[in-house]
Amino acid sequence: MTLTLDTPQLVKTQPLLVARNVSKSYGAVHALRDVSAVVYPGEVLGIVGESGSGKSTFLRCLNLEETPDSGSYTLDLPDVQGNLFDLDRYARRMLCATRIGIVYQNPHLGLLMHHSSSGNVAERLLVAGERRFAVLRDKASAALDASEFPLDRMDAPPVELSGGMQQRVQLAKAIALEPALLLLDEPTTGLDVSVQALVLDTLKRLQQDRRITMVIVSHDLGVIRTLSDRVMVMRRGQVVETGLADQVFQDPQHAYTQQLVHAKL
Ligand SMILES: Nc1ncnc2c1ncn2[C@@H]1O[C@H](COP(=O)(O)OP(=O)(O)OP(=O)(O)O)[C@@H](O)[C@H]1O
Ligand SMILES: [Mg+2]
Repeated sequence: MTLTLDTPQLVKTQPLLVARNVSKSYGAVHALRDVSAVVYPGEVLGIVGESGSGKSTFLRCLNLEETPDSGSYTLDLPDVQGNLFDLDRYARRMLCATRIGIVYQNPHLGLLMHHSSSGNVAERLLVAGERRFAVLRDKASAALDASEFPLDRMDAPPVELSGGMQQRVQLAKAIALEPALLLLDEPTTGLDVSVQALVLDTLKRLQQDRRITMVIVSHDLGVIRTLSDRVMVMRRGQVVETGLADQVFQDPQHAYTQQLVHAKL
């Protein structure tokens, strides 16, 4: 049997996520050129690359916030069929609200900064149809707890919290509905090194305990190495290398990846 990077031998299941040839331009800027990715259930795909390489644009496409110029995207979930880029606005919104969680680098993009933290998480549950106050509060508090947020601060608005705590509120909101896919865009960038390490620990614990399928974007190789099973290296809107994390870090094939890895050492 031939082993390819798209079909790890130990994972004998269908991929959860398949994106093929995703391209997106903004005027003359080719943000993405034929980007493809495959993620298996329970796996963490890390996307690394220099600033402007298209990482966030690709993640926004996976969160159906951005419509690419071409390409396809499927998720292997019950009641979810076809190329998700073809869904109408309402269907996209419902799919994202119920099956996909996202944590942005900038908490202002993911949170209502002046509403209570518990309210931010509860809002996610409301969109999915939950209306019972006690259930909303219990579930919001459970998600905040799983994100290792101090529960005595759950009624404080994010604007009054530290950056690390704001990221935990975003994380709680993202996992409140047990999403099939968790997208993380630079979740620790801008935090103190010590806080960064704590948030990374939380993400690792969540991954180990719940086996949530994740796509994490970072320009920080340390973050990607800590969390990822597989790595995709982007440069100027293209994928230059993809492979198992150990393989990419120990034996990078592309000159750009070699440069990245050696710069980090
Ligand atoms: N909404 C937009 N309008 C115009 N250009 C955009 C838009 N979003 C992204 N771009 C451009 O697309 C390219 C890729 O941007 P993107 O934000 O995806 O890069 P990135 O890899 O996430 O970078 P960083 O590490 O700095 O976050 C850049 O040249 C950027 O200026
Ligand atoms: Mg970005």
